Amino acid sequence: MSLTILAIESSCDDTSAAIVRDGAVLSNKTANQEIHQLYGGVVPEAASRAHQINILPVVEGAIRAAGISKTEIDAVAFTRGPGLIGSLIVGVSFAKGFALSRNLPLIEVNHMMAHVLAHFAEATKPNFPFLCLTVSGGHTQILIVRDYLEMEVIGQTIDDAAGEAFDKTGKMLGLDYPAGPIIDKLAREGQARFTFPEPKIPGLNFSFSGLKTSILYFIKKQVAENPNFIAENLADICASVQARIVSILLHKLTKAAEETGIREIALAGGVSANSALRSGLQEEGLKRGWNTYIPKFEYCTDNAAMIGITGYYKYLKGEFVGQEVTPVARWEV
Ligand code: KG4
Ligand code: ZN
Repeated sequence: MSLTILAIESSCDDTSAAIVRDGAVLSNKTANQEIHQLYGGVVPEAASRAHQINILPVVEGAIRAAGISKTEIDAVAFTRGPGLIGSLIVGVSFAKGFALSRNLPLIEVNHMMAHVLAHFAEATKPNFPFLCLTVSGGHTQILIVRDYLEMEVIGQTIDDAAGEAFDKTGKMLGLDYPAGPIIDKLAREGQARFTFPEPKIPGLNFSFSGLKTSILYFIKKQVAENPNFIAENLADICASVQARIVSILLHKLTKAAEETGIREIALAGGVSANSALRSGLQEEGLKRGWNTYIPKFEYCTDNAAMIGITGYYKYLKGEFVGQEVTPVARWEV
């Protein structure tokens, strides 16, 4: 007997729906909210309104793309948190309504756990236990993953996320939002000849707010001396900032691998699209004998396929919730 799950993700600014059958992704549809580009960041109120508009077409699109009918859906998985509460409410309410109308079981999913399990949407899957560095606009975490639903955060940011460090730097340089991909592209033409300090944070935790401040002071000082400094050195500034963000991430990941003795190393989240981070991980992996895993971009950024994959493993364990479930802004894995 096959098991078909409708999955819904609405924790931040992407509205996404997927159909997952027996642990394989049949479809994965996402509506991005371009409105936030106008403001240089995600505006929560605008995000929840856009989810409200996007959710029905996205769910219908996912069902159509999977080539199934609604009656074939056996369960509904949804992101309960962590995330923006106004955004989560839209997805959670939709999932509850859909499940109620068809008398289907509901599966709550932790968004951070789902980022990790996105690896199981791919043909090449990491072996347990593995380490996963999840890096996006909202998260920076290193986890030990012992089994599908058994994972532990062993390091995380104490302030900004890695993606925020890219995006906030972009704002200082007058780049569009989100700036991560733009900095990545510009950095390819530049030299990392400006040095920014690496924060001295104990253990496996990260900090990016000190870096942000040092970039700001550096730019202010240089612009005071030469008003054209940014325009004349843009590619080099991008290369320098990117090199530092990547080295902060890889140093902690290497430390985690050394401390745990684990050599299965995975990357997840939107920032894993970064070319320097990807090549840096692969180089480190070759040097240290790691097996490295990076999901394709569609499964790195926020998506419902990862929610459906997590939902599948929770279904197998009989982990369901009732209609009284409500979203949560904070939720540890
Ligand atoms: O996972 P994601 O789509 O959404 C969440 O934040 O959950 O990640 C978005 C983040 C943004 O901060 C964006 O600037 C960053 O991922 N990003 C990148 C690249 N592509 C996306 N950062 C650096 N280099 C990239 N190529
Ligand atoms: Zn995310």
